[in-house]
Amino acid sequence: MSTGSTLWHGRFEGGPAEALMAYTVSLPFDRRLGPQDVRGSRAHVAGLVRAGLMTAADGEVVTAALEQVGKELRDGTLAFLPSDEDIHTAVERRVTELAGEAGARLHTARSRNDQVATDLRLWTREALLDVVDGVLALQGVLASRAEESFDVTLPGYTHLQRAQSVSLAHHLMAHAWALSRDVDRLLSTIERADVSPLGAGALAGTSLPIDPEFTARELGFSAVFENSLDAVGDRDFVAEALFDLALLGVHLSRIGEEWVLWTSEEFGFAVLDDAYATGSSMLPQKKNADIAELARGKSGRLIGHLTGLLATLKGLPLAYNRDLQEDKEPLFDAVDQVALALAAVGGMVATARFIPEAMERASGADVLAATDLAEFLVRSGRPFREAHATVGALVRRHLAGEGSLADIAAEALGEEVRAFFGGANGAAMRTSRGGGSPAAARDQHVRLLARLTDDRSRRDGWTV
Ligand code: ARG
Repeated sequence: MSTGSTLWHGRFEGGPAEALMAYTVSLPFDRRLGPQDVRGSRAHVAGLVRAGLMTAADGEVVTAALEQVGKELRDGTLAFLPSDEDIHTAVERRVTELAGEAGARLHTARSRNDQVATDLRLWTREALLDVVDGVLALQGVLASRAEESFDVTLPGYTHLQRAQSVSLAHHLMAHAWALSRDVDRLLSTIERADVSPLGAGALAGTSLPIDPEFTARELGFSAVFENSLDAVGDRDFVAEALFDLALLGVHLSRIGEEWVLWTSEEFGFAVLDDAYATGSSMLPQKKNADIAELARGKSGRLIGHLTGLLATLKGLPLAYNRDLQEDKEPLFDAVDQVALALAAVGGMVATARFIPEAMERASGADVLAATDLAEFLVRSGRPFREAHATVGALVRRHLAGEGSLADIAAEALGEEVRAFFGGANGAAMRTSRGGGSPAAARDQHVRLLARLTDDRSRRDGWTV
């Protein structure tokens, strides 16, 4: 093949139109798969030699050329040509320049269809493991901020109305547990991505004696495809990755929204470190939580990537269609955005100063003790529904201006109920498993740390 022509020029009389190349090339984004393409190609060469489809000598020459291409890609010295449609074309073209006729044997029993699926699975496995590392790091930040916050009390909210006081540690760990489900999902997506499609050819396998199980092992895949049509047409692993990243993005968005509230003057629960806050170009006094806002805002883009890919996939007949080229940009962008968000949100949470007095002031409001009063009546044998009505009536008297709820309740139910008032007193009572008291939060923290250790070793079980 002469440099400057496409891989498929044989059956064409004329060259491709500029508009065709401009519209169809994927090199500007899929060059990111360069290292995986070199790795997959090396395994393929080993398979060709083993199958007797390439001599050992040619195998060495092509492997050395692939190493050289890998180095040029790393150094940024590989000069791409206008005819390099995608990274696969560019690598093969350069290998052939370096290895001559031996290089021209590289694409034996292989199609870009099984090649790109292989590359992308290799990439996804690595990228999602990096995301898992980032999630574990953020969970570590939440766990260590929780450790210093057992005895700080803030209101827990429902409907964003103050409901019952809880330990700040409890609140912070709620987010850490949500993230542990993200770790779970990412690891199980990696398991399903860990299947080699190499050897499926363009769609139907090949008449040549290759051994897909061998190349799967060479690439560290734990399984090999069962059906060549499915192998080249399947992007479930990309859709799953995008879902995992979108939901992780939603979790970060919910954290973001809370921190926008917490750092507002209205709440005043936390003050951001200068390094993790932004200012205003016009309003000199401003200190804004832009990280938190972008964690919220960028979740829209992550959801868009998922729905975009699903729409791309839904009408595709088997097997490969060029539409599938649209899988990469959303995946790359989702991974990049989530990695940036994890680091920024982690830094913001790690360095912020909590304002316990503001949290305690908010959680000390009398009405937050209402449920504790009702539960007090339940302890003395009253049906809960009746206790609820009794306390509701006391709250109504308080709201009508008859006095503080503490005074009204002490008069109606006995002086001992005064002990329930004050956010910390209330929180301390909720000792049920997984509940909001400092004591329950301490127990929970032990389980969270155990879970983190467990997840860390599950993650480290993967070497890719
Ligand atoms: N750039 C293509 C993609 O990303 C590679 C596969 C091309 N295959 C083909 N039959 N044109 O999907």
